[in-house]
This record gives sequence, structure tokens and C-alpha cells, in this order.
Amino acid sequence: MAIDKRIGIIGAGKIGEALIAGLLSDGRVSKDMLSASDEKEERRRIVSEKHGIKCYSSNPELVRNSDVVIIAVRPNQVKGLLEEIREAVTPNHLIITIAAGVPIAFIAKNLRKRVPIIRAMTNTAVLVREGMTAIAGNDEVGDEGMRIAEEIFGALGKVVRVEEELLNAVTGLSGSGPAYIYMVIEALTEGGVKVGLPREVSLLLAAQTAFGAAKMVLETKEHPAKLRDMVTTPGGATIEGILQLEEGKIRIALINAVLRATERSKQLLME
Ligand SMILES: NC(=O)c1ccc[n+]([C@@H]2O[C@H](COP(=O)([O-])OP(=O)(O)OC[C@H]3O[C@@H](n4cnc5c(N)ncnc54)[C@H](OP(=O)(O)O)[C@@H]3O)[C@@H](O)[C@H]2O)c1
Repeated sequence: MAIDKRIGIIGAGKIGEALIAGLLSDGRVSKDMLSASDEKEERRRIVSEKHGIKCYSSNPELVRNSDVVIIAVRPNQVKGLLEEIREAVTPNHLIITIAAGVPIAFIAKNLRKRVPIIRAMTNTAVLVREGMTAIAGNDEVGDEGMRIAEEIFGALGKVVRVEEELLNAVTGLSGSGPAYIYMVIEALTEGGVKVGLPREVSLLLAAQTAFGAAKMVLETKEHPAKLRDMVTTPGGATIEGILQLEEGKIRIALINAVLRATERSKQLLME
């Protein structure tokens, strides 16, 4: 379904550009309904040439020409940006922030008005349109606002709604999670090399296996333990491998990874 709103993205960096590419694909948003701004002239030129959308050098001008404003600058740049756009923002705008760790209350306080604000925690896989994004909104955001955000992030992967207080937990799991899975893939690749597979073959086997297993969980909706049992023949090879993983305490290590990353993301807010 096409999104019938003028969307303006402030900060045409890695994630900003991924959003632009995702939204333009499948005709979700037409080029004349999407614009961006960036303080770097080079980024504006690259993005407008590559994607054929209007790029503003003035953030307030972008805001005045948009219904939905997506803040995609780095967290330490958000405060200055809010000061810049404060006058141009009205209660009719929907503000969506993807800056990691920046609370909705911080945005509202710095805009100095009651505006619908959605905070999103996404992950690096939006670059390949397989991202995982969790969204939370303030009281000013109606159901339509949440649906618009779901459409936007749905162009780049999967979306869930959560309470804002759970966004730290989201950071600890899916925000940091790609790094955990890269480590698993890397280690499986080393294992393959150890048993004689050429490195690039081993990497392909490991990465596609991780991808396929994730797809099985998502598409069959079976519990992962059931899927694991299905490939574990009594007395066979897989159970040998599983016993090694149990001995290496892989489960508790991953649980603790999520726990500690969640704790750390709470601390980052206070620093
Ligand atoms: N990368 C990820 O995997 C990831 C995952 C989840 C969430 N996020 C969040 O996404 C946001 C963007 O991350 P990113 O990796 O895309 O960063 P990025 O590549 O540095 O992009 C940010 C862009 O915004 C520009 N900018 C800064 N201040 C501006 C302003 N006032 N007006 C207009 N443009 C401005 C920056 O220019 P300068 O370089 O000149 O400052 C840069 O081109 C961050 O807040 C991050 O927390 C990123």
C-alpha cells in the first residue's frame, strides 16, 4: 500500500539513505512525496542524483514541506537539530526519531510543544531491507501515526510496537544482535575451515545456514526447540555438535549478552 504523506528525512547518512531506498522500492512512496536534508553538500548531491528526490540544505524548509519528519542524525546531533526546526514543527507533523537512546521526552522537551512523536529502535540490517525495528509513540500519536511508522519501517524489514521503556531491551537483543550472530557465523566458518572446507565455501555455508534457520523459525512459527529436535537424529552427528555447544554454555552466554547489553544501553542514556 502506498503511503500518502510527504515524508522528509533529516540526515541522509547510512540509515537515512537506506530508508530512502527502501521507501522508493515497491512504489511505497513516490519520489515527489519524499525528500531529505543533510548538512553536507556532497551527501545532498549524491542522494538526489542516485534516488531522484529533492534534498534541502535547510531543515526548517524540509519540515515545512513534510507531514512526517524522520530524524536520522546521530544521537549527539539531535539537540542542535531540534533547536533548528522547533519553530517549523507544528502539532500536525508526525515526528519519528531513530536516534539510538534518545527518549521521546527529550524530543518533546526540546521542541517545547505537544507533537506526535514516535521513537524507533532499528538495526543495521535495514541496509539490506531485513531490519528489525521496534516503535513506541507518545500520547499524541494516534493509530494512524503508528500505522504510518509501521508502513515506513515495514519497507525495510519487520516492525513491532512496544512500550517505550522496553526499547533498551530491544537495543540489547535486536539492536546489538547482528553482532552476536556475526560472531556465531564467524566461529562456524572457522569450524568449517578446521575440517577442511575452503574459507569462502565455509563462510557461505555458515551464513546461509543462519539465514535459513532464521527463516524456518519465522515462516513455520514452530518453537526453535522443536525445529532443532527435527534435525537431531538419535545417536547421529547433530547431537554430538549440540553437546559441545551445551558444554560451551552457549545458551547462558547469549542470554547474558542480551542482559548486559540492555543494562549498558540504560547507562548510555545517563552519560
Ligand atoms: N547505523 C546503524 O546501524 C543504526 C542502527 C540503529 C539506529 N541508528 C541510528 O540512526 C541514526 C543515524 O545513523 P547513521 O549510521 O545513518 O549515521 P550517519 O551515517 O552519520 O548519518 C547521519 C547524517 O546526518 C547528518 N547530519 C548531522 N546533523 C545534521 C543536521 N543538523 N541537519 C542535517 N543533517 C545532519 C550527518 O552529517 P555529518 O556527518 O556532517 O555530521 C550525516 O550525514 C543515529 O542516530 C543512530 O543512532 C543507526
